[in-house]
Amino acid sequence: MKKKASKKRFVLVANWKMNPDTLEEAKAIAGVFERKAKKSARASIVICPPAPFISALVGNGSKTVRIGAQDVDSRPNGSFTGSISAREVRAVGAEYAIVGHSERRAAGDTDAVVVEKVLRALEAGLRVILCVGEDKRDHNAQYLIAVRAQLMAVLSKVEKSKLRWITVAYEPVWAIGKSFATALSPRDIHEMSIFIKKTIAEAAGKEAGLRAQVLYGGSVNLENAGPMLSEGEIDGLLVGRQSLDIDAFLGIIDHADSI
Ligand code: PGA
Repeated sequence: MKKKASKKRFVLVANWKMNPDTLEEAKAIAGVFERKAKKSARASIVICPPAPFISALVGNGSKTVRIGAQDVDSRPNGSFTGSISAREVRAVGAEYAIVGHSERRAAGDTDAVVVEKVLRALEAGLRVILCVGEDKRDHNAQYLIAVRAQLMAVLSKVEKSKLRWITVAYEPVWAIGKSFATALSPRDIHEMSIFIKKTIAEAAGKEAGLRAQVLYGGSVNLENAGPMLSEGEIDGLLVGRQSLDIDAFLGIIDHADSI
């Protein structure tokens, strides 16, 4: 009998941003996700908590759930008060770092800074979730040019052999933190996923393009996550607000399992 091809796993990233207020809450939510993740056949969960909670969550029985940082500094170490290095994040057991989130870009991260952050994260042995996305949509395909430029900045500086450690999260800025009805349609997500893979293939070869993982983020919720995962031809989701709503996030994991 022909062996059934194993289905791909979806990567579901919980970007908690500057929430919750207490470690107790963070541990409680992470504990629920951990128990759910153990039973999930199709979802790989990554929680990106506020930096002060990373170490505690790594030690909180997160065997199945992976822990990531929401950002890392562009420099390896030094006199940069308040900054957090990729090596420090790795040293306490985190495995991922989000880099280039639009909220960091809005706070001053240029493409050049994003590239340095990606390089520091990779050097430290972290997997990178690289966020790209246009500020607004237009009818002249300027949004494709904007996304391509953000991608090429990184692709031109990272060794091809390291690209497997980078997952691209397409997050259109105009859809982040908005009404859930603003989220992109599965059809548009599919289009962008193809475009991103094509751009990677052009820059780094067909293999890299085929292997590339692309996530979608921006006003994902329990209702729109199902169609996105089943029809959007993506490898997962980056979830902000609804990753702190336990029922919603568990429901999103259920969607992944039901496909
Ligand atoms: P949101 O955030 O799901 O609350 O829109 C997504 C993000 O910023 O990563």
